[in-house]
Amino acid sequence: MKFNTKAIHNGQHPDKETGAIIPPIYMTSTYVQEHPGMTKGYDYTRAGNPNYTNLEATLASLEEGNYATVFASGLSAFTALISTLVSGDKVLSTNDLYGGTYRLFTRVFKQYGILFETVNTQDLELLASKIASEKPKVMLVESPTNPLLNISDIEAIAQLCKANGVLLVVDNTFASPYFQQPLTLGADVVMHSTTKYLGGHSDTIGGVLVTNDQDLKVKFDFGRMAIGLNPSPFDVWMTSRSVKTLGVRMERHAENAMKVAQFLEAHPKVKKVYYPGLASHKNHDIARKQMKGFSGIVSVEFNLDLEEAKKMISSLRIFSLAESLGGVESLVDHPASMTHASIPKEEREKIGLTDGLVRFSCGIEDIEDMLADLEHGLKGC
Ligand SMILES: Cc1ncc(COP(=O)(O)O)c(C=O)c1O
Repeated sequence: MKFNTKAIHNGQHPDKETGAIIPPIYMTSTYVQEHPGMTKGYDYTRAGNPNYTNLEATLASLEEGNYATVFASGLSAFTALISTLVSGDKVLSTNDLYGGTYRLFTRVFKQYGILFETVNTQDLELLASKIASEKPKVMLVESPTNPLLNISDIEAIAQLCKANGVLLVVDNTFASPYFQQPLTLGADVVMHSTTKYLGGHSDTIGGVLVTNDQDLKVKFDFGRMAIGLNPSPFDVWMTSRSVKTLGVRMERHAENAMKVAQFLEAHPKVKKVYYPGLASHKNHDIARKQMKGFSGIVSVEFNLDLEEAKKMISSLRIFSLAESLGGVESLVDHPASMTHASIPKEEREKIGLTDGLVRFSCGIEDIEDMLADLEHGLKGC
C-alpha cells in the first residue's frame, strides 16, 4: 500500500458491531473484567486504549516501522524515551533544538543524572570525534531543526551510531513521515510532536515514538503506563481523523512555503531566508537526498530592527502570531521571545538564533492571500 492509502486505512477499520466506518472514541478510564485478571486486552486507559492501538498502527506504518506508542505530548514521548536510561548515561544532541526539548534535558533530566551535551550534527567529523570521546547512549537528531531549518545527514549519522552502539533517535516533527522516514535511513527511533503536522489543525497536543525494536516498544509502553504519560482518547481519535489528510496537506504546506520563501528572498527588507527547498540553503543537497519535499516552515531575518520586526509580525492578519506550527492555518512566531525563550541568549546566539529571527508556519490558505498579508505587513514598517 502507498502512503495516502495507508494513512486512510491502516488502524482505521470499521466498527465490527455497528458497521460505523469510523472507529468510535473509547472515552473510558477502565474496562469490565469477567473474572479478576480476565480482560479483552485492556484494563485501564493509562496502560492502553483501543484509540491508542488504532493510531499506533497508522503511525507505525507511515514511518515504515513495526511499533508505535502514543503519548500526551511530544515532550512526554521524550520523557518515556529517557526513562529507558539510567543516571550517568549521556545524550548527545543536535545543537539547534526546539526550546522545550532543550529545557527538558537541561532543567529536568539533569537533576536525575542524565548527562546532556549538544553538538553541530551537520559537522560529521566533529560528531564522530564527540561520539568516540563522549560515548553517549543516545544520539538525538532534530532535522530539519526548529527554528533554523538546519538539515543533518541522517543516513551518515546512523552509520556512525551503529558503529559505536549508540541509539539514534530522530525528531521528525518538522518533516512529517510524508517527506522523511528516518527509520528507512537507519535511525532506531522516530519521535513526533503529533501536535504539529500529524494533528494538523491546532486542536490537539500529542506525541509518538516509532521503532522496529520490540524491546524498546515494551519499554515505551511501560514508561507511558508507569509515569502516566498517556493522552486523552479523544485527542488520539482526533489525530487519527487528521492523519488521513496528511499527504494532501503536506503537499500544499510545502507548495505555499516555497512561494513564501521565494517571495521573501526577493524582498528588499529581508536579510536572509532559511528554507531547505531554496538552492541558497546551506544543506539543500542533503535535504534533497533524504527528503521527498521541504515541508512548510520558513524562517527569516529581516533588515529591520527588533521593534520594527515585532510590529510587522503583530500586524499580520492571515499569519496569526502564536506559538506552535504545522496547522492548516498560517502562524508566525518570534522564537527569541516565544518558543525558544527557554534557551539562554548566549546559547541561542552561538547557533545563529538571533533576536531578529522570525519563523513562519505556512498554512494551506490561498497563497495570494498569504503573500498579500506579508506585503502589507512589510509596507507598514
Ligand atoms: C521539533 C519539536 N519537537 C518537540 C516538540 C514538543 O512537542 P509538544 O509541544 O507536543 O510537547 C516541539 C514543539 O513545538 C517541536 O517543535
